This record gives sequence, C-alpha cells and structure tokens, in this order.
Amino acid sequence: MKEKLFEIKTYAIDEIEKATSFEELEKIRVGVLGKKGQLTDILKGLGKLSKEERPVMGQLANEVRAEITDKLAQKNESLKWAKLKEQIIAESLDVTATKKFIQKGHEHPLNQTIDELEGLFRSMGFSIEEGPEIETVENNFDKLNAPLDHPSRDLSDTFYIDKDTLLRTQTSPVQIRTMLKQKPPIRMVSAGKTFRNDDVDDTHSPMFHQIEGLVVDENVSMANLIDTINVFIKELFGEDIQTRFRPHYFPFTEPSMEVDVSCFVCKGEGCDACNHTGWSMELLGCGMVHPKVLEACGIDSEKYTGFAFGMGVDRITMVKYGINNLRLLYDNDKRFLEQF
Ligand code: DAH
Repeated sequence: MKEKLFEIKTYAIDEIEKATSFEELEKIRVGVLGKKGQLTDILKGLGKLSKEERPVMGQLANEVRAEITDKLAQKNESLKWAKLKEQIIAESLDVTATKKFIQKGHEHPLNQTIDELEGLFRSMGFSIEEGPEIETVENNFDKLNAPLDHPSRDLSDTFYIDKDTLLRTQTSPVQIRTMLKQKPPIRMVSAGKTFRNDDVDDTHSPMFHQIEGLVVDENVSMANLIDTINVFIKELFGEDIQTRFRPHYFPFTEPSMEVDVSCFVCKGEGCDACNHTGWSMELLGCGMVHPKVLEACGIDSEKYTGFAFGMGVDRITMVKYGINNLRLLYDNDKRFLEQF
C-alpha cells in the first residue's frame, strides 16, 4: 500500500506540474481525490488493514492527500497569474509607442506653378480673383467680343451644359466678372481650370489650367503691357531669357500679340529642340483690351484703356520642369509627383 501511495503521489504531482489549464487540473483532482479517485479508493481499503498498520497508512495517506491538495492549490494559483499576465499583455497599451509614420503629400506641380505666378503678380500689385468653372455663354464669349460664328463656340470645341451655360473654355470671363463688379483702376490675375473638347495626347487634355491678367486704368499703354510681360517672364525663367512679341488675333484685344521666349535649351543659339530658330513656342497671348469689351462691362472706353494677357499653366509647368508629356501631370502617379 505504501508503494501504491507513493506511486499515486508521484503520478499526481507530475501531472499537476504538466497541466496547462484549469480544466486539466480539475480532471487530475477528480481522478485522484474525487469520490472514485485513486486515493479515495485506497482510503476506502484502510479498513481491511491490521490495527497496527491502519493508523500508519492512514497518516501516510492523509499526508499524500495534503501534499497533492497543496500542489493543486499552488498550481491553481500559478495558472491564475499566468492567465492574468497573458491578459495584461494582450490588453496593454504602449503609451510611448509612436504612431506609424504617415507619408505627407505636397502641392501638385501645377498648383506650385499657380502659387508662384500668383505670388509674382501679387508682388507687382495685382489682386487675385476667382471665377466659376461653370460659366455663362455670355461671359465666356459674348462679352469678350467673340462673335457667334467664332469656331471656339462650336459644339465640337466647347462643353455646353445648356444653350446658355458651359464649362469655361478660358479664364478670360473672370476679366468680365471683375470689370462688372469693380470700377477702374483694376489690376487682377485669376488662375484656374478650363475645359475644351480635346482628345488626350502628349500636349492636350480636355481639362487644363490658365492664368489670366487684366489691367484697366487711365493712360494704360502697350508699353506698360510689354514691360509687365518682360518683368514677369524674367522673374519666372531668369534674366537671360529673351522675349519676342508677334502680331496675333484675339477677339477681346486689339491689337493682339503672342509672346515667344528664347529657347530654354540653347538660350537662343539655335538647336534641335527649337528647330534651330532660337525661339520656344508661344508662351502667352496678350493685347490691349478691345473697347467693345470695356463698354460691355460699363467702362468708358474713351476714358480708360487696358491690357490683358493669358497663358497655359500646364505648358509653363512642363517647360519649367522639363516634362515632355502632359498626361504625367494628370496620372497622379506618386513616383512622378514625388520628384517635384
Ligand atoms: N483666352 C485666350 C486663350 O484661351 C488667352 C488670352 C489671350 C487671354 C490674350 C488674354 C489675352 O487675356 O489678352 O487662348
């Protein structure tokens, strides 16, 4: 019986040590100390022993039971702690942890150009005006002296919302809006999106950007226009850039001109990039505001004169950064945009 008790003790203690859950522990307890447990069986058999043996074995069995009970209690306690520790780890918050780094974006190169241009004109005393992208046909064409048969008014060139409303084809209607709400002297620029029914290719997009300028005051002359354009182009591209003013036609200016700048690659020497002309393609359109445009806005064209200019922001951005495909500016590919 002694050996049997010893065996039960060794077995029970060993099993208790190995147990990893309360369920396992309970199973061991029932299997050893329960009503039908191994130790209980032995205790039941004490009666069959001799008078001398009975107390000795009884005491031994009680010691074994006490030892196993103790061991069970200890293990129960240590499992409790392990469980608590697990829970603490699982639910813990590391207040010192830094948040995962979120990559910050930056201004799109087109908006960088707009900001730079607006800053430049602001420093020259111009105000910044805004106009809607959905415009009236009247502001976009009629008040700008664009005759009904002007090709740009064609359905195949312009996105009409209805017969009187369209997606503006140019930023020039902001000139009209400014002259209608403000009396001269006026000195304003306005940048924004413009829309034309063009297919997408390397240099065209149905949505693009323009910046527009207007000066109206007494005694505004063509010399003022040329000087303003020269100052701004040299500020933007550098002192060594040359300009060339060519006669052109715009309905809202008379006379009208287009401005070329000397080739950015060869600085006017002549190279493959400029077809050996020394000049880059036209950069902007400009002219003296047509008297009819002033009158359409209630401004006395006998008293006031003005000049206006307009240019493509996309083209300036492409020239400035050496980008050869307009689509890159609209693809929103981070690998491209991160370079600017
Ligand atoms: N609105 C013209 C265009 O989209 C650009 C332009 C030319 C604007 C001459 C002007 C200007 O204000 O005077 O082609």
